[in-house]
Amino acid sequence: MNAPSAVNLDLDALVSAARARFAQAHASADLENAKAQFLGKAGRVTELMKGLAQFSIDEKKTRGAAINQAKQSIEAALAERRQQLAEQQLEEQLQAEALDVTLPGRQRGAGGLHPVSLAWERIVQIFGSMGFDVADGPEIETDWFNFTALGNPPNHPARSMQDTFYVDLQDENGQPYCLRTHTSTMQIRYAAAYARRHAAALRRGEVGEIRVIAPGRTYRVDNDATHSPMFHQVEGLWLGRDVSLKDLKVMYLDFCKAFFEADDLMMRFRPSYFPFTEPSAEIDIQFQSGPLAGKWLEVSGAGMTHPQVLRNMGLDPERYQGFAFGSGIDRLAMLRYGVADLRLFFEGDIRFLAQFG
Ligand code: DAH
Repeated sequence: MNAPSAVNLDLDALVSAARARFAQAHASADLENAKAQFLGKAGRVTELMKGLAQFSIDEKKTRGAAINQAKQSIEAALAERRQQLAEQQLEEQLQAEALDVTLPGRQRGAGGLHPVSLAWERIVQIFGSMGFDVADGPEIETDWFNFTALGNPPNHPARSMQDTFYVDLQDENGQPYCLRTHTSTMQIRYAAAYARRHAAALRRGEVGEIRVIAPGRTYRVDNDATHSPMFHQVEGLWLGRDVSLKDLKVMYLDFCKAFFEADDLMMRFRPSYFPFTEPSAEIDIQFQSGPLAGKWLEVSGAGMTHPQVLRNMGLDPERYQGFAFGSGIDRLAMLRYGVADLRLFFEGDIRFLAQFG
């Protein structure tokens, strides 16, 4: 069983030669050619196997075993090189497709909120902190919600206070739909939904509380420096067993001080008329410093909710009372940001808007 050393040497040289040849192959096609040279039908290993024929049985065994071992070594070398090439190829591909993530992107300005949105968000945040819910509702309204339920029946002179956009569509009462002229519609919608939800409790005579604001878009046939056909209001409604005018004054003054960040702000209620409140008032404020100091500025309508309006909501005026207010969001934004012409808000001039970023 002494394997002739010459054969082993030859075989070692063969394995080395195969390794060297495989190492030279830099593409997988070339590597397959190299494989054929050693392991193929006419390859060197196959030749050696054929050459065994001339040897005795014993020699065949030892030589055959040695050749097989060499063959296995060559196959292992081939597999190793294949693996190397695959990894190299992947590496090259990754390099070629690499993204330079350190290159700064082409910047688009981050933009900013519109001043009316800024004011709107501020209003929601401040009233939210005072425990007010925030409600939202339709801009295309029925006559009932926009007028009649608010104490403003057909032909009532108060209707002429508002120039209304009508929609060429009739509601179930044969009245044309309109674009809501104020957010006061939401007083009725919200309170009526509350009354339906709590119908059983209301029948038992229980009194709960409604505290809500409803910011949104409103529409009137109007267009000048302080009026736009589309504008924004925020409605407020606070009803309960004994919600009073005093609560309105305290609450609204707190709101204004927070909104304008002015602690020395003064406020007054001026008697007024609205068909859905009694008594009714206009709320004026006065700054003690800054460019608007010393002038009374109107910011809101307000009043104690009229008993008939409470009935229209499905509430008993013997048990519920409270107040409502309706303020112009655009007006509040103009005062806060010192904008003199309302139309600037809606023209989309980037030079104007960029100042609020
Ligand atoms: N809806 C009124 C308007 O647009 C504003 C208003 C006044 C709302 C008094 C109210 C209120 O809630 O109590 O002119």
